[in-house]
Amino acid sequence: MNFIILTLIFSTIRGDDHSSISFLARKLVTNRSENVKVDKFPDDFIFGVGTSAYQSEGAWNVSNKGESIWDKMTHEQPSTVADGTNADVAANSYYLYKTDVDLVKQLGANSYRISLSWPRILPTGFDNYVNEDGIRYYNDLIDEMLKKNITPFVTIFHWDLPLDLEDLGGWTNPSIVDWFVDYARVVFNAFGAKVKYWTTFNEPMFYCMYGYQGILAPRKNWSGIADYLCGHNALLAHAKTYRLYSDHFRKTQKGKISLNLALFWTVPENPNDQEEVDAADYMFEFRNEWFLHPIYSKDGDYSKIMKDRIANYSSIQGLFRSRLPAFKRHEIELIKNSADFLSINYYSVVTVRKFKNFDIKETISYDADVGTRHTPGAPNNASFETENNECDVKNCQPWGLSKIIKRLTQKYSIPMIMIAENGYADEGQLEDMDRAKYFYYHLKEILKLIKEGINIQGYYAWTLFDVFEWDKGHTFKLGLYSVNYTDPERARTPRKWSPKLLKDIYTTKTIPSSFLSFVNENKNI
Ligand SMILES: *[C@@H]1O[C@H](CO)[C@@H](O)[C@H](O)[C@H]1NC(C)=O
Ligand SMILES: *[C@@H]1O[C@H](CO)[C@@H](O)[C@H](O)[C@H]1NC(C)=O
Ligand SMILES: *[C@@H]1O[C@H](CO)[C@@H](O)[C@H](O)[C@H]1NC(C)=O
Ligand SMILES: *[C@@H]1O[C@H](CO)[C@@H](O)[C@H](O)[C@H]1NC(C)=O
Ligand SMILES: *[C@@H]1O[C@H](CO)[C@@H](O)[C@H](O)[C@H]1NC(C)=O
Repeated sequence: MNFIILTLIFSTIRGDDHSSISFLARKLVTNRSENVKVDKFPDDFIFGVGTSAYQSEGAWNVSNKGESIWDKMTHEQPSTVADGTNADVAANSYYLYKTDVDLVKQLGANSYRISLSWPRILPTGFDNYVNEDGIRYYNDLIDEMLKKNITPFVTIFHWDLPLDLEDLGGWTNPSIVDWFVDYARVVFNAFGAKVKYWTTFNEPMFYCMYGYQGILAPRKNWSGIADYLCGHNALLAHAKTYRLYSDHFRKTQKGKISLNLALFWTVPENPNDQEEVDAADYMFEFRNEWFLHPIYSKDGDYSKIMKDRIANYSSIQGLFRSRLPAFKRHEIELIKNSADFLSINYYSVVTVRKFKNFDIKETISYDADVGTRHTPGAPNNASFETENNECDVKNCQPWGLSKIIKRLTQKYSIPMIMIAENGYADEGQLEDMDRAKYFYYHLKEILKLIKEGINIQGYYAWTLFDVFEWDKGHTFKLGLYSVNYTDPERARTPRKWSPKLLKDIYTTKTIPSSFLSFVNENKNI
């Protein structure tokens, strides 16, 4: 997840044992008449929780693991991380994976989303040397899940690129398409019999955008050029991996495969200015469609608005060809329909403002191409009120998720949707009523969408416990469980409310109707 701003007060109230408490009076379906629509998630709904490899495992230099671009950046440029920390030890999940799976179980979840570390499995990035210890670790972790009836949801790449591959150009080198496919083949051979839900990439938009704005790993400052190369190669790598799975593994392994996209609903900072309204809408198309359009649209390829604008600006800037690489005809076909479901990471609405008074001739950058900038911390108030938002917690706009899903399901034929990330950041206090509210209103919205006929089959809360949150380090916590980062053992403690709420929803498959009064009654504890 990325970039939510928050301000909350730290407190240290100890969490109760959530497993023994059923704290919410649930809506009892007393009316048994035939026509009543039961307020319940489908029986086979996936209720999950997630983490990722670099953010949680630690053991960065253990058992032949190779270095990743994040190891290098955090070691050599600690000032890029808010608190100067790194994930050398992180939550110590490399050693505590059994505890972690146990926590998943305690939450009443039936699925756990993890990612695989490419440099742990292939220390140099290439498949001629497979690190047996890496394979053993993930086999142990997956076996532990299966033992406890937890369905694994596995993301193959979550930003931690092997350093050797970065030295060869990383995501800007077209050869990475094959390097990734070779890595994926190792992974399918090793774990595919046990994994039914795969995603190739997590949020390619972010690692391509931030990675090449000079902000985060690999910290190359080539915005407007390298980000598009990165996205292009990621789309091809994704599609080739999808075809590899379909041609060689699907029949025997019977899984589904997609990629996780961070999607945003964009809101103009000034809703009374038509130019700003149009710019926000344009940003929705430009950003979200970067990866959606080539995969889900009928014609494939990048969207017309993206191709047209980048070609136009490139020409104004004196370039003979567009900074957005062109797909060949067969590549467009390869990428089209290369997903069995749509996997959405959703956090909040973003408020945006149009760039004004800049000289496009002199400005080559992704943001300049989009023409608007996300204005963090800008008030979301207009939209907040007009949408009758029930959730009064900061950055809690479940209606934004509905808007995205409705827009996309009208536009594309999407077979199935998973919400692969959704969560609430604060400063890490155990008292987390706001996080509980956030989950409550989002799950309520999702149930509403399901009842309207939208095929959502799973939901993953982010995160199981506090992890290393990239540039925010440990200043930004989303965990259902708190982790004591001064404790070498990295003890986990349940937060006060969110684990109870999720357990309640996950095990009853219903949304407690009495949450609001519950919140009011307990406001001051
Ligand atoms: C691994 O890294 C840790 C720091 O996280 C360091 O203390 C340790 O010496 C390193 N071990 C090896 C074998 O390099
Ligand atoms: C990237 O380069 C541009 C142009 O040289 C510069 O203005 C900008 O500050 C650089 N950004 C970063 C994050 O280094
Ligand atoms: C190209 O961009 C310029 C600058 O924004 C704009 O004035 C012009 O209309 C655009 N041309 C086309 C063909 O879109
Ligand atoms: C949001 O609230 C701020 C502060 O009250 C106000 O200045 C701003 O105009 C509001 N924005 C919108 C879009 O209503
Ligand atoms: C965190 O761990 C340290 C070291 O073991 C311990 O002194 C401290 O009391 C722990 N903090 C909490 C809140 O449990």
